[in-house]
Amino acid sequence: MRVLVTGGAGYIGSHTLLELMAQGHVVCVLDNYANATPTVLNRVRALSNGQITDFVGDVRDAKKLDEVMAAFAPEAVIHFAGLKAVGESAQKPLYYYDVNITGTLTLLHAMERAGCKRIIFSSSATVYGEPQYLPYDEAHPTNPMSVYGRTKLMAEQILTDWVAAHADRTAVLLRYFNPVGAHPSADLGEDPRDIPNNLMPFIAQVAIGKRDVLEVFGDDYDTPDGTGLRDYIHVVDLARAHVAALGYAAVHNGARPFNIGTGQNYSVRDMVAAFEIASGRNIPTKQSPRRAGDVAAMQADASRANAELGWHATHGLDDMAASTWAWQSKNRNGYDTD
Ligand code: WQD
Repeated sequence: MRVLVTGGAGYIGSHTLLELMAQGHVVCVLDNYANATPTVLNRVRALSNGQITDFVGDVRDAKKLDEVMAAFAPEAVIHFAGLKAVGESAQKPLYYYDVNITGTLTLLHAMERAGCKRIIFSSSATVYGEPQYLPYDEAHPTNPMSVYGRTKLMAEQILTDWVAAHADRTAVLLRYFNPVGAHPSADLGEDPRDIPNNLMPFIAQVAIGKRDVLEVFGDDYDTPDGTGLRDYIHVVDLARAHVAALGYAAVHNGARPFNIGTGQNYSVRDMVAAFEIASGRNIPTKQSPRRAGDVAAMQADASRANAELGWHATHGLDDMAASTWAWQSKNRNGYDTD
C-alpha cells in the first residue's frame, strides 16, 4: 500500500517506516522537524531499500498537504505528527490544541480532497486517566488528566465522527502504553531534545554520564516497591502494530481503538535494575516527591489487538534495556553527530 507517514522522522515513526518497507509498502514522510532531524531518514534509508519520498512541512499547512497528496497519492495515512510532552502541554495548552487538533483536522480535510479513506492514529493510553480497574481494556472509561491526553481523546472523537459520516472509511486508534527501546542496529533510537521527560531515556543519559542522578518520583504508591508501575512496550513491537493496523484497515471500515502494550508492567526500580544489568553501569538515584498527574500503575489488556490485528508483543524487558543501552552508547549525542 502507498502510505503517508506524518511525523515519520520521529522516534516511533522512523521505526515504523522500516517495518512498513520490510513488508513491501511504499512510504512517504511529511515532517516539520520540530522534534526530529533529517539525519533520521538517512539512517532509515541506509537500513532499508532506501526508497523514501519525503516532504518538509507542518501538518497544519493545508497547501503543503495538498502538494503531498497530489504528488504521492497515499492509500492510507499513519498520523504520528504531534506534540507529546505531558508537562509542557499544561504550560502551552493552545499550542498543543493547535498542533494536535487543528493538525488532525487539516489532515482529514486534505485526505477528503484527495479521496484517501484510511488513517492509523497515534493515540495514547493516557486517555484512560486514573484506572478504575486494571488491566485497562478499550471499554475502560476515558478521563484524561492532562492537556496532552485530552488532545489525544478529542482527536479520537473527531476521527470517530469523520468515519461515521461515510461508510467506506477507516480509523484505527492505537492507544500506546509506554514506548521504549531502540532498533537492533543501534542506529535508530529515542533522542529527546532537552532534558528527557520520560524514564528510560533519562536512565540512559545517566548511564553515559550526561546526567548525574535519576530522580525517582514517589516511593509511596500502592505498588510492590512503592514506585510507579508502567506497561513498557518495545518500539519495534509498537512499529509492527502499525503494520498490522494497516492490514486491518484494508479490510475493515469504521473507527476502533486498540490497546498496544504487553500486559506486563514494571516499576521504576525494575527498570533501573534491568538497565544496570544491560549496561554494566551503576545508575545513581535520588528519592523525590511524586510528579503531578502521575498514576500509581498502568497495565494494558491487549487481547483485542492480539485477536483482531493478529499482533503480539515479542520483546521483553531485557531487550528494552539492552537495545536502549546499545543505541545510547553508540550515539552519545543522539542524532547530533558533530
Ligand atoms: C514512567 C514512570 C514516573 C521520569 C507519559 C505519557 C504517555 C507517553 C509516555 C507519549 C512514572 C517515573 C519518570 C523520571 C521517574 N507519552 N519517572 N523519574 O508518565 O507513564 O507516560 O510518557 O507518548 O502518553 O503519559 O511515562 O516515562 O514519564 O514515567 O521516576 O525522571 O517513571 O513517575 O512512574 P508516563 P514516564
